[in-house]
Amino acid sequence: MNNWLDGFAKLHSFKFIGDKVLFSGRMLESKNYLESVEKKELVPQLTLNAFLDKRNDWNFLELLKIMTKMKEGTAFDNFNPMVWRFGAKDKEKGMYMALTDSPSAMRFNISDLSSMGLYLPKMIPFPVTGCAHPLREPGTDNTLWFMTKVDVIGNKFVEIQRYRPSDSFSEPEVISVFKPAKTSMVHSFSVTEDYIVLFMYPLDADPLDIMAKKFHIMEAISWKEKTDTDVYVIKRKDGSVRHLTTRPMYSLHHANAYQINKNELVVDLCEKNPNALKDYLTVGKIFNPPKTTDWKHVKSDEFSRWKINLQNNTVTKSIFVDSVNNPFVNMLDFPVINEKYRGKPYCYLYGNSLIDYTRTAIVKKDLCKDGGDKVWYKENHYVSEVWFFPTPGESLPEDDGVLFTIVFDGNLKRSYIMLMEAATLESIAVSYLPFNVPWSAHGYLFPEAQF
Ligand SMILES: [Fe+2]
Repeated sequence: MNNWLDGFAKLHSFKFIGDKVLFSGRMLESKNYLESVEKKELVPQLTLNAFLDKRNDWNFLELLKIMTKMKEGTAFDNFNPMVWRFGAKDKEKGMYMALTDSPSAMRFNISDLSSMGLYLPKMIPFPVTGCAHPLREPGTDNTLWFMTKVDVIGNKFVEIQRYRPSDSFSEPEVISVFKPAKTSMVHSFSVTEDYIVLFMYPLDADPLDIMAKKFHIMEAISWKEKTDTDVYVIKRKDGSVRHLTTRPMYSLHHANAYQINKNELVVDLCEKNPNALKDYLTVGKIFNPPKTTDWKHVKSDEFSRWKINLQNNTVTKSIFVDSVNNPFVNMLDFPVINEKYRGKPYCYLYGNSLIDYTRTAIVKKDLCKDGGDKVWYKENHYVSEVWFFPTPGESLPEDDGVLFTIVFDGNLKRSYIMLMEAATLESIAVSYLPFNVPWSAHGYLFPEAQF
C-alpha cells in the first residue's frame, strides 16, 4: 500500500468512568479485509493510490473482479476516516456506521466495536459517491447527507437526503435532486437555519480514468485550475436550488455556516492545495519530511470565510487576521465546533494545524474578536484531531467543555490521550495508552455506548 488511508480501518473507543479510561480497538471486519487476511494477500479492491511496488498491481483477471465488485457496491469497504450514527440514539437501534466518501457504509456495534455488515444504498440509479461528513439537521436528530448518482444514460445528478431516526439506510427522504454543472470530489458540506450549502470544486476523478489507472482513485484526480467552483444553496424546506459560482478553489472540510439574514450566508472553509491531494499522504512523502521547517503560514492551506449573497449572486472570500502572530493559527483544518452551534452564528473553532509533515499543533480560533486565538504546540509531540465535549447543562458559554485528542510522544515513542480545557487550551489530564494509536480523525461522542 502507498497511501496512509489505504491502511485497513480500525476503530478505537475511549470510555471515561470516574478517574479511569477504558480503551479498546478493533479492526473493521469488512469482506475485503477478512478475505485478504485469510489469503495473506490483498484481494482485488479499490485503493486510493497505486502500490509502492508496481509489480504488485492488479492483473487483467483481478481488474475484472474489481469491476464486478463495483457493480455490486463492494469494491471499496475500507471505511476508515469517519464514524456516525444514523437511526435512533440507542445502542441497539442506532445504526453506528464507519464511513468514507463512498455511498455505502459498515455498521458496527457501538459498545464492543464488532462489525455488523455492509450497508448499501439503493443501487438504481447507481450511486457513485457519498460524503464522509454527514451533518445533524439543526434542532433535530436527523442526518443530512448527499450522494452523486448516475442514471442509465449516464447523466450524473446530486441527491440531497434526510435520514429521520426511523428511516432505513437505503430509504432516506429525498430533499432535492439536481444536475450539477460538473461533478466534483466533495468531502463535506454545510447547513444553516434554512439551507444546505454545497461547494463543487473543479477537482474530480473521471470513472473511465479510474479504470485506466487500475482502480487507484487518487491517480485519476484532475484539477482544472481555470474552471470556477460551483456553489449550490439548497432550501431545506422545499428543495429549491440556487446556483452561484466563485473562483477555482478546493477544500476538504467545511467548518460551519450560518445566515446573517434570508439572503446572506456565511460559510467557513479550510482551503487545501488541490495538487497535494493526490500524493500528500503517500508513504514516500510521509517518510521523507522536509529536513528543516519553514515556519510560515501557507497561503494555499488557509482557513477562510466565504460570504454568499443570494440577492446579488455573489460569493466572496475574506481571510482572518493573525492577531497573535503564530503561523499555525490560520492554517487550521479538521475543524470541530460545539455542535449546539451547528448552522448558527458561532465564535469558537478548534482544529489541527500542520506545517510540513512534522509540526502539528492544536488551535482554538476566536472568530468574534482579535487576540483570542490560542495554540498548543509541543516539540516532538504529534497531535491527532480534537473533539469537543460540551459540559452538560444549559446556558453555558460556547467554549465551556473539554477537548479530547490522541498525541504521539516522539521522545517516548508512545501514544497518549489528552483532555484539555477548551476555554484556555490548557492540558488538564494525560493518560499513556497500552498500544500506540496512529494519527486519527473524525471521531464522535456517543454517550449511549455501554461499558
Ligand atoms: Fe474529513
